[in-house]
Amino acid sequence: MKATAIANTNIALIKYWGKRDETLFLPMNSSLSITLDSFFTVTTVEFSKSFYKDIFFLNELQATDKESNKAFNFLNKVREFAGTNLHARISSENRVPTAAGFASSASGFAALAAAATRALGLQLSEKELSMIARQGSGSACRSIYGGFVEWQKGIRTDGKDSFAKQILNEKAWDISVLSVLLAAEQKKVSSTEGMKRTVETSPFYTGWLNTVEKDLEEAKEAINSRDFEKLGIIVEANTMKMHATMLGAKPPILYWQRGTIDVIQHIHKLRSAGIYVYFTIDAGPNVKVLCLPEDEKIVYESLLSLKDVQDVIICHPGSGIKYFE
Ligand code: PMV
Repeated sequence: MKATAIANTNIALIKYWGKRDETLFLPMNSSLSITLDSFFTVTTVEFSKSFYKDIFFLNELQATDKESNKAFNFLNKVREFAGTNLHARISSENRVPTAAGFASSASGFAALAAAATRALGLQLSEKELSMIARQGSGSACRSIYGGFVEWQKGIRTDGKDSFAKQILNEKAWDISVLSVLLAAEQKKVSSTEGMKRTVETSPFYTGWLNTVEKDLEEAKEAINSRDFEKLGIIVEANTMKMHATMLGAKPPILYWQRGTIDVIQHIHKLRSAGIYVYFTIDAGPNVKVLCLPEDEKIVYESLLSLKDVQDVIICHPGSGIKYFE
């Protein structure tokens, strides 16, 4: 009873920020992402009667208690779904620079969900798998699919209408996403904690909720008509708005560092010079830069010349879940 799955990570173009149910990981708003080809997690899960407890190896080392508990709690949900109490051995390799604050939870829980359910012999649709992955980390539900992906928030209390679906596959539209790695500290406020504080205390959160579904519709229109400029403008505005809601929280949350602002201002300069280039930022200091493939080289080189930029990794739309038999 063993299976291996590989999942790519994803970056939200229209952000998920806020949970309406913390146990089932149900979001306050729908979101939209692009699955990236350069960052992924490969996970093998084996269930056996001979295992007397769960064990989790991450990049060949035994995972910390915090990491292990998250993975085992998630396995409990999978076990409940499958009607089994077998223990498991998980072994994961993360090709995501986690230490630098790049999110690995999306690819991590998508790969774990896929490998664990496959190891237990469950035959799930992508939609069902997306609903299971969601309960490890919300953004993981989008990493089941390649290309451009929408996570519909749903309205049911049991979460059965909260899952992701593909809106355009990875081959349908090539854009460049440059992941800018800054010389910055690890984030101090987790996304779960940041969301909770924002929902409970920020007076700007209602403004977010009142406008985010419209942002999503506009982004979908831009994707469907391959209108890069329209997409870039809405993506950038949506990111700024999400961070503005956090600045209004009590106490305020600021994920940005000096290098973050340098990159933002640099993008503005490139745009004034006539290049179609936009940014998005998650719950951390690093920036993801969107541009057209023909401008990729010039944008890449100019970003590398900035003082606080340690590395830039070029990504393109990536595929959904894959299994190794
Ligand atoms: O799923 P989480 O807990 O990693 O939260 C993701 C939050 C953001 O990255 C900021 C936005 C998103 O939609 O991915």
